[in-house]
Amino acid sequence: MSNGNVFISGASRGIGNSIAYHFAENDYVVVGTSRNEFEFDKKIKNLIPVKLDVTSREDIQNCFNDLKTKNLLPDILINNAGITSDQIFLRMKDEEWDNVIDTNLNGVFNLSKIFVKNMIKNRKGRIINISSISGLMGNSGQVNYSSSKSALNGFTKSLAKELGSRNITVNCVAPGYIDTDMTSFLDEDSKKQIEKSIPLGRLGSGEDISKLVAFLASDEASYITGQTISIDGGLLMY
Ligand SMILES: NC(=O)c1ccc[n+]([C@@H]2O[C@H](COP(=O)([O-])OP(=O)(O)OC[C@H]3O[C@@H](n4cnc5c(N)ncnc54)[C@H](OP(=O)(O)O)[C@@H]3O)[C@@H](O)[C@H]2O)c1
Repeated sequence: MSNGNVFISGASRGIGNSIAYHFAENDYVVVGTSRNEFEFDKKIKNLIPVKLDVTSREDIQNCFNDLKTKNLLPDILINNAGITSDQIFLRMKDEEWDNVIDTNLNGVFNLSKIFVKNMIKNRKGRIINISSISGLMGNSGQVNYSSSKSALNGFTKSLAKELGSRNITVNCVAPGYIDTDMTSFLDEDSKKQIEKSIPLGRLGSGEDISKLVAFLASDEASYITGQTISIDGGLLMY
């Protein structure tokens, strides 16, 4: 017996991959996507990989049609897919700005727009957007990325106000430094420096983020909406 349907963008690796396995282990049917073909553990039948680019409304429409036929439209949407394209502002190319905004912000619009209708119909739903502390505190070399993540906080608040009366919560999770491909460019020295600046003394893991996302998706979090919750080992306190 399934606990519900979950859709996670960017689930082939990193944080999204951890979230996908976490929900699958807790008896949800999980559809996870990425731009490239990928596989989940084939032994786990309730994990379904889908090739989909969040910037392509055509891909999303095709996926929606397919999930609708299979009764797999999500009760829980996790907008996780994200990219960086770091560059100091003066050297930032138009495409470095456009690609990051298109994936990190427009992708969230594209997926939320198409999946929210069914949640409204069911008068039940959860939308969880993966933002970043870079969107809260800024980061040198990340004008594009922090703008996209900061915008997600506003997106979350406004949508939460619109959908509250339909019993749909919308929240943001803002990770700090998490040990994934996205942070693999850091050399050992930089990693040590970062660890020193984190009160809990370590980078986070995908599992750390999964637990918070699972809580926000649960009935226990039914009175939490419109929030951006940092999960960063105490790096950003305000
Ligand atoms: N790692 C960190 O320290 C950190 C900190 C704060 C916030 N975050 C946020 O957490 C989320 C996950 O980050 P991560 O560290 O797990 O990154 P990651 O390891 O680079 O994984 C990113 C995932 O997103 C997918 N993806 C990228 N562009 C896509 C697109 N246009 N359409 C569909 N899928 C796409 C990637 O697969 P393909 O390449 O195959 O498409 C991959 O599955 C991101 O939103 C990121 O901004 C991460």
